[in-house]
Amino acid sequence: MCGIVGILGSHPVSQDLVDALRRLEYRGYDSAGIATVENGHLERRRAEGKLRNLEQRLLEDPLQGMTGIGHTRWATHGKPTESNAHPHMSDTVSVVHNGIIENFRTLREDLAGKGHVFDSDTDTEAVVHLITEELNNCDDPVQAVREAIAKLEGAFAVGIVFAGHDDLMIAARKGSPLAIGHGNEAMYLGSDAIALAPFTDEITYLEEGDMAVLRRAGAEIFDKDGLPVKRPAIRSQVSSFLVDKGNHRHFMAKEIHEQPEVISQTLSHYIDMAEGRVDYPDLGIDLSDLTRVTISACGTAYYAGLVGKYWIERFARVPVEIDVASELRYREAPLPAGGLALFVSQSGETADTLAVLRYCRAQGQRIASIVNVRTSTIARESDVVLPTLAGPEIGVASTKAFTCQLAALAGLTLLIGRARGTISPELEQELVQGLLEVPRHMAEIMADETQYEHLAHDLSKARDVLYLGRGINYPLALEGALKLKEISYIHAEGYAAGELKHGPIALIDENVPVIVVAPEDELHDKTVSNVQEVAARGGKIILISNGADDAAGCELMAHIQVPDAHPFSHPILYAVPIQLIAYHTAVFMGTDVDQPRNLAKSVTVE
Ligand code: M6R
Repeated sequence: MCGIVGILGSHPVSQDLVDALRRLEYRGYDSAGIATVENGHLERRRAEGKLRNLEQRLLEDPLQGMTGIGHTRWATHGKPTESNAHPHMSDTVSVVHNGIIENFRTLREDLAGKGHVFDSDTDTEAVVHLITEELNNCDDPVQAVREAIAKLEGAFAVGIVFAGHDDLMIAARKGSPLAIGHGNEAMYLGSDAIALAPFTDEITYLEEGDMAVLRRAGAEIFDKDGLPVKRPAIRSQVSSFLVDKGNHRHFMAKEIHEQPEVISQTLSHYIDMAEGRVDYPDLGIDLSDLTRVTISACGTAYYAGLVGKYWIERFARVPVEIDVASELRYREAPLPAGGLALFVSQSGETADTLAVLRYCRAQGQRIASIVNVRTSTIARESDVVLPTLAGPEIGVASTKAFTCQLAALAGLTLLIGRARGTISPELEQELVQGLLEVPRHMAEIMADETQYEHLAHDLSKARDVLYLGRGINYPLALEGALKLKEISYIHAEGYAAGELKHGPIALIDENVPVIVVAPEDELHDKTVSNVQEVAARGGKIILISNGADDAAGCELMAHIQVPDAHPFSHPILYAVPIQLIAYHTAVFMGTDVDQPRNLAKSVTVE
């Protein structure tokens, strides 16, 4: 992952680099650093941990250069120490890098044999010494970078500055995103347009294999064959304002509470209110003849896709294959001609998801994506983009993006079902009505969070927590466990309720809370039977359900009541209690809710 920035400016750039890095901290926050060209020399400051540590370092020891690069790191190779923080540099070359150089060991050995001395454990430092070596041979930075990147294997986006070259920055990308910003006698480089928003809205996205030579007067871009190429400059719609927490203590809380509004916006985007039916862009494929849908995604987005599978198979009667992208990308799965491949991603930059998209395209699939960032690589490489209107999601734990993905998937189910004649106009109206009531019900759930605060005391003492759900609530159990573990660091697992007796029941004792997602639907009684099995073994049950149901007389540790709602909308609605459970438990435990350890918001490496 990692975020990179670069500025060729007309005044000292260190503060601007830090401001841009703040907008990229969602890509990693293990360490940060900047390097500038000062009086012909390279100077750098780095700090372990979050960006504020680097800011402190710069206050004590400022940088004055007007050409510089910056980096915020999510550690891949080497611990998150200052010596492994970017930029890495030799006397002549400084590099920031996002991605993984897969052949770095070979390069390191070779370069060490030529006398290069390494002082970090990173793969990136091999790039520094490789360019330095080439520069020693040809004395031309552009040629040196061209020769060096031809020798790199893996994925990278790099920004490079050179001692003695105040008006030069070179960028290159293969597999990792990179954008150039055009200013007035200034040029910018960033992992995305968000980082550059305070400086310019004129953005050029580099394409696979591109190398760009930036000077204050403009940029020259060369394609993967080294030929000069023109890439369009577009007006970015990204806001230059940093999103704030409003009255909330954390971004996650704010984003949970925004859900009624952003779900409304997403539903409005896909529903013709006057007609009570869904209204989607043309997918460019005959849906009445659809033989299969292949869904791929990672993490929470994958669980949204799993709910989509239950919906599409049940209501539209089309078989759906779904797999986590990191598996599907290497599984060499056969895909039938004329199929629809659907990708779900908040960021639109997740490396594994993007790789599967490219695999599916090569297999002749029609590519549709549900993304929150419309300018993202996944969006740009899709035939059809189905946006979620969640707005920027800053908290690493996905909340509003998840429920908006579900809203888009619910509508898509209706679209496919209508085209295939499995959903009648009457049923479509009924299901649409059910969806339109979600925002109101969500607001009801969030009206009083005291119960979650109390529950947090008990849950915080647990070492393990199990989540159970059956049918379409099974993905919610998986999502609940992911949410809890990623922000509270309590070990949690989600299981299909019926699977309990096939192994996990061995874990149940009076110390293991079991959170059961069990709305009163046609499978409710079966789930309650599983609850009884837990109760019989002394497990502590937290039931999330509607009505006055008490799980057939079982003693409950807590009963979280959810308003009665149309069963079609249950997965969207029941997401809220599981988010609140995780949030309040993490707050009670005092963890870093918005930036949990070891994680990053956007995962652009394998
Ligand atoms: O940006 P994406 O939706 O593609 O990201 C996928 C996952 O990395 C993401 O959902 C992750 O699992 C979240 N931290 C979950 O809260």
